[in-house]
Amino acid sequence: MMQSQMETRVIEVDMPGERSAVYREVAELLRAGSVVALPTETVYGLGADAFCEAAVAEVFAAKERPHFDPLICHLWSAKALKDIADVPAELQELVAKLAEEFWPGPMTLVLPRKACVPDIVTSGLPTVACRVPRHEVMRGVAKALGHPIAAPSANRFGHISPTSAQAVLKELGGRIPLVVDAGACSEGLESTILQPCLDEKGKPAVRLLREGPITRERLRGICRVLKPGKGGPAAENPAAPGQLPSHYAPHKRLILCDPKEEFTPPDPALSYGLITYQGTSPLAAQEGWASVMALSPGSGRLAEAAVRLFAVMRAMDEQEEVQVIVAETLPETGLGCAMMDRLRRAAAERS
Ligand code: TXA
Ligand code: MG
Repeated sequence: MMQSQMETRVIEVDMPGERSAVYREVAELLRAGSVVALPTETVYGLGADAFCEAAVAEVFAAKERPHFDPLICHLWSAKALKDIADVPAELQELVAKLAEEFWPGPMTLVLPRKACVPDIVTSGLPTVACRVPRHEVMRGVAKALGHPIAAPSANRFGHISPTSAQAVLKELGGRIPLVVDAGACSEGLESTILQPCLDEKGKPAVRLLREGPITRERLRGICRVLKPGKGGPAAENPAAPGQLPSHYAPHKRLILCDPKEEFTPPDPALSYGLITYQGTSPLAAQEGWASVMALSPGSGRLAEAAVRLFAVMRAMDEQEEVQVIVAETLPETGLGCAMMDRLRRAAAERS
């Protein structure tokens, strides 16, 4: 636990609107070594000036995040990539294509780092994770600061990522000085993380380190998509070091269940809440749920489900009548892959 409790201020910004005064104010705070929670299109991030080691250390402390888990650097433009990364000649064409296609947006590229990036940001790795977010606030503040903003998701380590300022306050209220509130995130799932590399034939490809809003299907239109590094169990050799098997976890136990099958409660004395995709499955029709929440009520659209997933997980976690959460498995196509990745981690046993 952090010892010091502080008051967490919230600044609301209208989207869209003229916000340069807010960007300057927030940049000033970051320049002074403070941490600030900022919105992005994926989830809210807890930002610090990436070149200020003391501020980055505050990020780890506020989140109780282990130092082996490196941070993503948010850039105001793809033009700033050269300030922190050295793209090898053989990958330059591919990186330019990916940047052109998906930046600004929910794509993070892991690339060889420049020496100016502090070790605390990269956990001492020879690479740095880089992203040009689509959200104007994160980009506007990074531009006003003139440095990249190192920012992990603004939740306590291992918890559900926040997709609203209210969720940030629940996670980190009293531990950080400021949250910039720009409303709910439009994507709702953390960025897709890719490591550009050469495949066994020497052709440029990407290794998919974390599934996210940019789907495999879309990436395959550009290059080959390789699986994360082999060898060893995930916890010993995580593809992205933060990708531990148990992550994105609600406080309550979460069980996955096929929507076509009947759910048999492992302990009939407990009360169960269902997270259903559309609310129309045999599982949703089953009697005895203490609560039922649909991700995409009626229509069953994966994009809508993705935007709502973390907020619904949080809401179920807060429902007093529910002791155990049951979540329907989702179709594993498109965004369904990233959602199932998060749900599996939420269901994984915690140590
Ligand atoms: O959408 C997002 O990516 C959000 C917003 C705030 O940008 N950020 C986010 O950050 O999800 P975080 O810290 O919760 O997850 C970043 C992941 C971690 O699993 C970390 O291990 C991985 O990125 N990562 C960071 N640097 C890396 C590197 N050099 N090599 C491999 N993985 C890296
Ligand atoms: Mg996170």
